[in-house]
Formats: sequence, C-alpha cells, structure tokens
Amino acid sequence: MARAKHPLGIDIGGSGIKGAPVDLDVGEFAADRLRIQTPEESTPDAVADVVASIAEHFEKATGDAPIGVTVPAVVSRGIVRTAANIDQTWIGTDAGELLASRLGRPVTVVNDADAAGVAELHYGAARNVDGLVLLATLGTGIGTALLHRGVLVPNSELGHLQLDGADAETRASSHARETEDLSYEDWAERLQRYFAHIEDLLWPDLIVVGGGVSKRAERYLPLLHLRAPIVPAQLGNAAGIIGAAWLAVNG
Ligand code: BGC
Repeated sequence: MARAKHPLGIDIGGSGIKGAPVDLDVGEFAADRLRIQTPEESTPDAVADVVASIAEHFEKATGDAPIGVTVPAVVSRGIVRTAANIDQTWIGTDAGELLASRLGRPVTVVNDADAAGVAELHYGAARNVDGLVLLATLGTGIGTALLHRGVLVPNSELGHLQLDGADAETRASSHARETEDLSYEDWAERLQRYFAHIEDLLWPDLIVVGGGVSKRAERYLPLLHLRAPIVPAQLGNAAGIIGAAWLAVNG
C-alpha cells in the first residue's frame, strides 16, 4: 500500500514564510523546513506566490494532502479580519478561497497563535491538561490561544488587552523587551502584571509561553508568581507549522 501523504503546514510571518510537511502521528516535520523571506510588499497575491512555491517544493511528500496556513491576524472562516505585521490589504481577504484556488488543494487558514496552541495541546506542553489552557506567544506582538478541554476557542486576541494604559503587546512582547533594552527582571514585572490580569479574567489551569524567547524561559518565568503553573512551550518555532497541518486535517 502506498504511504499516506503528509499534510503541509505553512507559517506566514512578518519576516519569513516557513513550511514543512508534518507527520501527525508524532507531531514532527516529515522533511526539512523551507523558509522564504516575506516579500517587502506582503500583499495577499505576493504572499500567495511564496506559499505556492513552498507547496511545489514539497509536492512529493504531500501529494494533494490538505494545507494549513497561519497568518498573524484574526481569521474567521478563512476571511482575514485584521493585519499585524502583514500588508493591510489582507483585511477582508478570503485567504482560504484565494489560496485554495491558487494551489488547487484544500487550504485551512488560521491565526498563528491558535495554530501554535493546537500543536502544544496535541504534542507539547499542554498535553493531557483537563481544563483551560492559555498559550501566549511573546514575539513581535503577543498572540494568544485559548484551549478548553482540548477544544480551541479561536481568535482570542488577548495581546491587545490594556497594560499601563497601552496595548499590552507594545509593553510586554519580546519585541518591547528588545527595543526598550529591558532587563529580564524589568520585563518580568510587566509580564507579571499582564498574566495576573488575564488570570483574574479567565482563570486558566495552565499558562504556556511560546515564541522564540521561550527558549530562555529560565531567565524570567521563575520570577512570575501566578495562580496557575506557567511553563515554556515545547515545540518552539515548529509549533505554528505543526498546528496548521493538524487543523488542516482535523478542522
Ligand atoms: C495579532 C494576533 C497575532 C499576534 C502574533 C497580534 O498583533 O493581533 O492576531 O496572533 O500578533 O503574531
């Protein structure tokens, strides 16, 4: 019998567009990831060209298996509603339809943090948690995913709560730490206030911190004092791709 083809996961970010076929039995890439720089003008058409070359590159491994694509934006039923770090012309675009007709294969488009949350839920730090999990990716912005008893509540957008009278992601993202040259201690104070506020509103049973800076979690997570345990994500930058592929297959 021919081996089943792997779904393809593609993660559209402000600086890079990354894709890999995903082995959903184990939650790992089935081939080396391909990264292409995000076009300077990251319009839907320009990005669709890059997505098409990534799909072509992996055609052998994926056949006509479904494709999952993440965007750093609110997505409802394939339609992009906001645009953080991508061209504003995405707003109102039916990205599911655009990419599916471009690629000739079923395409599921989801928010980037939601995809990462789903990956951590099935293969990473949020496995077997019976209750409410909040995943927060601390990167250029703050993306969040809410997962209740294994089910994703999409588009939670808690990076845009108010913190110190400003959009929280402008104060507590990893980007804010870098641009303001904050020590981990100073940054942790902001994270403390941010997560404590979320805890008062939602009472999660577990908080998972993702994004590149989760690799250095020992520098700041021990400084936080919250009701719920707060742990680093386990899948690192692979989470978006893996979760997108999972959602493409399992909806
Ligand atoms: C966007 C979210 C996104 C997050 C991480 C935020 O600015 O509003 O949709 O998940 O950035 O990319």
